Amino acid sequence: MNNPPPKIVVTGRIPESGIERLQAAGEVWNWTSDDPIPVDVRDAQLAHADAAVTLLSDRVDERFLAAAPHLGIVANVAVGYNNIDVEACTARGVRVTNTPDVLTDATADLAMGLLLAVTRRLGEGERLIRSGTPWKWGMFMMLGTGLQGRRLGIVGMGGIGQAVASRARAFGMEVVYHNRSAVDPETERRLGARLVPLDELFATSDIVSLNCPYTDATHHLVDADALATMRPTAFLLNTARGPIVDEDALADALRDGTIAGAGLDVFEHEPDVHPDLLGLDNVVLVPHLGSATVETREAMADLAARNVAAHLRGDPLPTPVN
Ligand code: 8YV
Repeated sequence: MNNPPPKIVVTGRIPESGIERLQAAGEVWNWTSDDPIPVDVRDAQLAHADAAVTLLSDRVDERFLAAAPHLGIVANVAVGYNNIDVEACTARGVRVTNTPDVLTDATADLAMGLLLAVTRRLGEGERLIRSGTPWKWGMFMMLGTGLQGRRLGIVGMGGIGQAVASRARAFGMEVVYHNRSAVDPETERRLGARLVPLDELFATSDIVSLNCPYTDATHHLVDADALATMRPTAFLLNTARGPIVDEDALADALRDGTIAGAGLDVFEHEPDVHPDLLGLDNVVLVPHLGSATVETREAMADLAARNVAAHLRGDPLPTPVN
């Protein structure tokens, strides 16, 4: 008798190309509603699952794993995997994979979009025109901040941080960075980037860009104390994870003029946004769009599917986490 095909549970909508690749590897069950999958529905499917393809919005914890006694792999369709208890997975022999590299350019592009939007006051300009407020060109109307010669401080110099650095160089900016360890000298030279202590980065940068993973060590890395050391003319960009920033403290700092502005793609209590931020003109807010291009989302789904297929074949995983 033939063995039944392996069962692959996909907990949310992903691009069709990813589903097709998964279908070539096993029997796919896919939650296709935009609403979150109800836990009882998910658990009923996990009971027979050999592989799970998960999204940022899934919490893969002991509870999830307990529902999935046959699970061999969790393939997260995201580069960040703070939604996954990797230790618990490892303890149960469950492999974890993520989707690095394929979303690097899209996320760095979005960081530059936020950088331009906040320093050139594009959100304010949009709101002015859409409100129907009469306006005419003026020498001193809505002046922003130029980027040439400004210092960009990048927190987290992985692939995305490096991609932000190379874009910033093209805008004539100086780049400093903080990372657990220095990047290799050749990359530093190519990016013209210099490693500095975190306190120096906060105190001397004109723009601070967060590009680090969210871990216990980076929780509220940007708090009231850090914000107080930033220049009153400085801007903060967050395209990483919301809880790296203490949003209460950020709202205060933006209101009081402790810093000049912020561009945020991610939020501490996503999808909720701190109500005080909504009324401030010096913050640009977008709904977690870092990897949101057609091409990138297809590449992410494809990479997650390739990880699942490799695991089911017993091959090395393209992008393992554990
Ligand atoms: C989203 C991201 O998670 O990859 C990450 O870590 O933050 C984004 O790419 C992703 O789009 C899926 O939900």
